[in-house]
Amino acid sequence: MPILVTGGAGYIGSHTCVELLNQGYEVIVLDNFANSNPEALTRVEEITGKTMKAYHVDLLDRESVKEVFEQNKIESVIHFAGLKAVGESVSVPLYYYQNNITGTVILCEVMQEYGVKNLVFSSSATVYGTPDKVPIKEDSKLGATNPYGRTKQMIEEILRDVAFSDPSWSISLLRYFNPIGAHQSGRIGEDPNGIPNNLMPYISQVAIGKRQQLQVFGNDYPTKDGTGVRDYIHVVDLAIGHLRALEKVQSIKGIEAYNLGTGIGYSVLEMVETFRKVSGRPIPYELTDRRSGDISTCYADPAKARDELNWQAMRGIEQMCKDSWRWQYHNPNGYNKAFSKQNIRNDRNPVRYAAGFFNV
Ligand code: NAD
Ligand code: UFG
Repeated sequence: MPILVTGGAGYIGSHTCVELLNQGYEVIVLDNFANSNPEALTRVEEITGKTMKAYHVDLLDRESVKEVFEQNKIESVIHFAGLKAVGESVSVPLYYYQNNITGTVILCEVMQEYGVKNLVFSSSATVYGTPDKVPIKEDSKLGATNPYGRTKQMIEEILRDVAFSDPSWSISLLRYFNPIGAHQSGRIGEDPNGIPNNLMPYISQVAIGKRQQLQVFGNDYPTKDGTGVRDYIHVVDLAIGHLRALEKVQSIKGIEAYNLGTGIGYSVLEMVETFRKVSGRPIPYELTDRRSGDISTCYADPAKARDELNWQAMRGIEQMCKDSWRWQYHNPNGYNKAFSKQNIRNDRNPVRYAAGFFNV
């Protein structure tokens, strides 16, 4: 029975579609392409040699979401669709609350209506805010510090209420740490709009010559070299984590949160040095002030996912940098920009098509 993947054309969603198809799942993608390109779906099909149905639908468009459930006997949902830029969420919080929270509420209402009650949700380590101690365990206190993070925290609470109200729901809340890397084919990867906010796409763009130098935000943190420390996780490991969570929600009722991280923290300068080594390109950088809202150190205790999902990250930091670089090198401009994102950005019309339709 098919798995619905909302936001399946995005960075993590596309990698998860590959793993699902490789495992023999039937996959249906729902995406409004607000932050992705349909070309990613074509490439997922190319990598796997399998096809999937894709719907150009906005989660806020309830009738179209219902149509997707009407036309397909969906068994479980992996819900990636959401907006994720921290800075943007501070400028336009209502847009974030509307898109992420209302979108999730509509999805759950439709799921309920169609008797689909297995859900894997993309949460984030950002729900922990400034952690009291590291490594972070799932029962650490939550305290998101920006509107984006609060959408994730609020959705987690909404989903807990849903599961409490009706014990036939099965929900996994996956709290990702810092996803980087790309599929080893070099055909799919992270394709940020404009100037990247995150470290890895910024480093890659410096390496390829699109940006002059990296700004390292702060070197006075209480860390090994003064720069911020994060738990970077390969996107393919993360994608595989979704398959384990899917198996879990298909077999056990209730709601659980899981950290998906490696348990290892690397500093910004360690990342720069590793990337320089694997790419053979210089990564010029300057040390600047701290970025407002950043924390010093964040890494996971991934034991719960290991014990309960039978999942562990396998790919190391060199592999993450190598795969990010292969993607960047072979796709210096990301996905085919000839198919302009602008043209479809605000198109809320429910146009349906097969993924291959956009293969220009
Ligand atoms: P992404 O932007 O690449 O993918 C999100 C997808 O959702 C995009 O294809 C976008 O077009 C789609 N989308 C957004 N709003 C939609 C709506 N209303 N209706 C239909 N489709 C919609 O992001 P990603 O990095 O793949 O992240 C996937 C999920 O994981 C997001 O929910 C994000 O918040 C969460 N997450 C990401 C990170 C990260 O660092 N990448 C970390 C923690 C959590
Ligand atoms: N950094 C730089 N220069 C840059 C970009 C980042 O020095 O140009 C530093 C940051 O200060 C931080 C580290 O690199 O120390 C990682 O920064 P990212 O922006 O890549 O990632 P964050 O940990 O700040 O946040 C990301 C996502 C959040 C998500 C969080 C945990 O942006 O949405 O990971 O999953 F919640």
